[in-house]
Amino acid sequence: MKFLFGNLKFSKASVQTKFYLFFLLYFIVSALVVTAVKRQDFKTCEQSSFCKRNRAYADRLTANHSLISPYSVIQDSIIIKDGIISGDLINSENNLIFIFELHLLEIGAARVRINEKNPLKPRYDKAKDWALVQDPSYTLEYTLISSKPDVTSLSFGKERKQAVSIYHSPFRVEFLVNDVPIITLNDRGFLNIEHLRKQVAPGLVDQSNGENDKIIDDENDLDKGLWKETFNGKEDSKPNGPESIGLDISFPGFSHVYGIPEHASSLSLKETRGGDDSYSDPYRLYNLDVFEYEVDNPMALYGSIPFMMAHRKGASAAVLWLNAAETWIDITKNKEDKHRLSSLLGFGKLTPTSTSAHWISESGVIDVFAFLGPTTSDIFYQYGLLTGFTALPQSFAIAYHQCRWNYLNQEDVAEVDENFDKYDIPYDVIWLDIEHTDGKKYFTWDSVKFPTPEKMQNNIGIKGRKMVTIVDPHIKIDDNYYIYKEAKDLDIFVKEPDDRVYDGWCWPGSSSWVDFTNPSAQEWLIKKFAFDQYKGSTEYLFTWNDMNEPSVFNGPEITMPKDLIHHGGWEHRNLHNIYGVAYHSATSKGLINRSNPPRRPFVLSRAFFAGSQRYGAIWTGDNFAKWDHLAIATPMLLTIGISGLPFSGADVGGFFGNPDTELLVRWYQAGAFQPFFRAHAHIDTKRREPWLFGDPYTGYIRDIIRERYALLPLWYTLFHEASTTGMPIIRYHIISLIYISFP
Ligand SMILES: *[C@@H]1O[C@H](CO)[C@@H](O)[C@H](O)[C@H]1NC(C)=O
Ligand SMILES: *[C@@H]1O[C@H](CO)[C@@H](O)[C@H](O)[C@H]1NC(C)=O
Repeated sequence: MKFLFGNLKFSKASVQTKFYLFFLLYFIVSALVVTAVKRQDFKTCEQSSFCKRNRAYADRLTANHSLISPYSVIQDSIIIKDGIISGDLINSENNLIFIFELHLLEIGAARVRINEKNPLKPRYDKAKDWALVQDPSYTLEYTLISSKPDVTSLSFGKERKQAVSIYHSPFRVEFLVNDVPIITLNDRGFLNIEHLRKQVAPGLVDQSNGENDKIIDDENDLDKGLWKETFNGKEDSKPNGPESIGLDISFPGFSHVYGIPEHASSLSLKETRGGDDSYSDPYRLYNLDVFEYEVDNPMALYGSIPFMMAHRKGASAAVLWLNAAETWIDITKNKEDKHRLSSLLGFGKLTPTSTSAHWISESGVIDVFAFLGPTTSDIFYQYGLLTGFTALPQSFAIAYHQCRWNYLNQEDVAEVDENFDKYDIPYDVIWLDIEHTDGKKYFTWDSVKFPTPEKMQNNIGIKGRKMVTIVDPHIKIDDNYYIYKEAKDLDIFVKEPDDRVYDGWCWPGSSSWVDFTNPSAQEWLIKKFAFDQYKGSTEYLFTWNDMNEPSVFNGPEITMPKDLIHHGGWEHRNLHNIYGVAYHSATSKGLINRSNPPRRPFVLSRAFFAGSQRYGAIWTGDNFAKWDHLAIATPMLLTIGISGLPFSGADVGGFFGNPDTELLVRWYQAGAFQPFFRAHAHIDTKRREPWLFGDPYTGYIRDIIRERYALLPLWYTLFHEASTTGMPIIRYHIISLIYISFP
């Protein structure tokens, strides 16, 4: 790393120190930077009624220690059969009955599912169809340890080292490894399932059915938003009323937790309900197109993986909260003064001893996987068996990519391509953003700027290089556009509650959105990538899925209204976070299916969910040409990597703004060590191809790109490892290894 640290030679330890100083400096700088995100475009927990209600529910229990969770197991309802422990729960506050199931899984994990026993209508439970490779099988290797009136305990796994205890009243589930508790559900009593109900008249809830619901009080702040809510003048009609779920999941003995991307935040998650350097809002998972996002912030970004891991010396544990609706996660830590003297005297530093997460989702069922390790590599493997391993890319995909919005025309593409040869800088892929199309109609070409796309691709393909074009999910409303016409005739667009096709605003102007959760839409899109369908495409052409959160310029929070209707009659609110992966999946399958024999695809996506690793790479979206954005890319990519999606990168140089030469060079030097390595820039920025800066800067960039190429065998080996074991690709000892190998 001579570029980062000059010509001095460093020992491993001193490199580590420098590395941290480097980042510390960035964070100090970042605190001084005025940011441009429009916070008012996006909800806080206070502005999202289900989040606010669940926080209030937690506060009530926390404030009064004589209150306990109203959920308990109904006596003698527990049945243990074929790896499933099931039973009924009753909520003593409204006498409603819930069914819980605990599955002991062959992969070395357990699954807890809780649903209403007799819901008014089915609750959404299809996130699993997108996230999981298949329904995991149960293990028969378990032993009942105790079955008392107040607790049911089993040990499981080959050596029976794992155990679970279900406490009956209040309901609480504790997972243990070697008799040490590592994950506890409902330890703090925040389990809360808002049952489906009927609104008999505005403000009045049907109280038949044994429900002791109180009448809605319009003056009560918490009751506002139960049946309708408005944000920035946009109304959510909420015909199903309140239907949220909440649960606390604690990691006893763990002082740090990690995961739940995507946030521009630190690797170790911060507290959100008080504490040093805490956030005031929970971490939010709701795929959103956030213009000029801020660093060090728990606001939602483009992707969501509801996976959280805890680690300490000798133990690791993790959970997957399988839910595709808007989700908020509060993090709190128990702290103790570990020094006896200062603790006796009542001063001194408090050290966290346990971490607890309060998960809150707007709808769906409780479906939680507990991964019991014991090591982090075990968890990566268990999670990979469940949600799939990273698809092994072709080697060009892990090389260097050159992108900008936009390469203007075929001459521009040819010139950029030739300049890489002229300046002796290796590159593998050149990208075309939205301007390559005819009026933002994807799968078409601007016939003036790109009159002979096949010839253009063959010219670069003959040198062993590839091209990527952007294909977005918003479809321009235009009966003369074959894609629109076909989707309309197949009736596969997302609908308004009154069954009209939804239209919103995006790059092409008035647009509709294909409902990729519809199997017919999947099948249709897969076919659209065939060479005889996507005119002007060749075997050298690959794909970029952008705007798939989905981004809707005139929608609430720049996305789709939650009361829109998808296949099967499901509201968008239930499945928002899987829209992106459903699109990514069809695109990836389309590229596989276009050749015979099939070839490995390459598809970059902006939105993601658990399971996206099976379809391709993701990037961290529209970052900024600022030092703090360069710095934050490292914890963001580490977090995404430990959450099972290691093929990720951040735009080199920063998307918005013009980096000065030093920032650009430093960004190349960092980006060369990130799994997906692509330079990209906004249309309003100055051109910044590597040769435009002159020496020594062009030389620095050439050198670091060449180092990337020199290390491609290592990268490919790491990708192979990720594709078979689930190990993240960027990890600390790999970074150290590279520092040692290249002093
Ligand atoms: C705490 O809860 C108990 C049990 O419901 C109740 O009797 C008591 O009044 C509550 N205390 C406060 C301070 O609200
Ligand atoms: C995949 O390709 C084959 C022919 O190569 C075709 O018959 C099949 O319909 C395609 N599958 C989909 C889902 O389009």
